[in-house]
Amino acid sequence: LNISIIGVPTDYGQARRGVDMGPSAIRYAGVVERLEAIGHEVQDQGDIRVSQKQADAAVDEKLLNLEEVVEVSTALANSVHEVVEQKKFPLVFGGDHSIAIGTLAGLGEHYKNLGVIWYDAHADLNTPETTPSGNIHGMPLAVSIGLGHERLVQIRNYAPKIKPENVIIIGARSVDPGERDLIKEQGIKVYTMHEIDRLGMTRVMEDALAYLKERNVDGLHLSLDLDGLDPLYTPGVGTPVPGGITYRESHLAMEMLQESGMVTSAEFVEVNPILDEKNTTANVAVALMGSLFGETLV
Ligand code: ARG
Ligand code: MN
Ligand code: MN
Ligand code: MN
Repeated sequence: LNISIIGVPTDYGQARRGVDMGPSAIRYAGVVERLEAIGHEVQDQGDIRVSQKQADAAVDEKLLNLEEVVEVSTALANSVHEVVEQKKFPLVFGGDHSIAIGTLAGLGEHYKNLGVIWYDAHADLNTPETTPSGNIHGMPLAVSIGLGHERLVQIRNYAPKIKPENVIIIGARSVDPGERDLIKEQGIKVYTMHEIDRLGMTRVMEDALAYLKERNVDGLHLSLDLDGLDPLYTPGVGTPVPGGITYRESHLAMEMLQESGMVTSAEFVEVNPILDEKNTTANVAVALMGSLFGETLV
């Protein structure tokens, strides 16, 4: 593959500092060398420019840092759009999960029927009406299906970016009441920890991929929040939830995505080096990318 890396050093989607250093931590963990060793051509495009907070911006408790998130999302969307236009594989590093608003906005014009795998402890389906925190990193999936603040929904001037029936959430174990309603109302497919325990990751991924094939998706985006894994393996995240996906299950999931040959873009988000232990979380992210991009032992 021809892979283009884009870093998004932002923490505007939530309230804990440090997640803006995620792209540096992932690069430090050796991602470029790792992907090149597999045989891919890798170009690191560097980081999206993230401005200082506008001191005079209006404060909306239901949408923290709205102006800043709109600015970052727009720049990222333009950059991702261009990478796909050049027939390259966009690989995006966060930053908090609000960056998915920009990534999906950059992808949506290229795919009429994009599939999305949302690997996460959370559903990220809140709106300004349902959010318990005001943090936009809890909203990107809702925004991408066209629900939420207009400024976010209309990045690159079209909406929605994706179809709710093409979304599969894997690893959910912290879902807010408003998100639960949306999942039912919009027909979003969810494999919670219950299904992963009960069926095993093999069956979950087989079913998920079969479902997306049946829906004839013309591309597949992986949005991987490192808090989808159990905090035992990825402690450096801002909103850890116990009882998560294991390291081995996650590698298996990545290997099955690789085998499917369906993945056309990916993002790895919520790596917070300040909360981490000796860069463990970035190291896990890069190891998972190894599996996703076809690393083999023998
Ligand atoms: N559901 C909570 C909220 O909306 C937590 C969201 C966490 N999202 C994340 N991308 N880590 O505030
Ligand atoms: Mn274009
Ligand atoms: Mn999460
Ligand atoms: Mn998330």
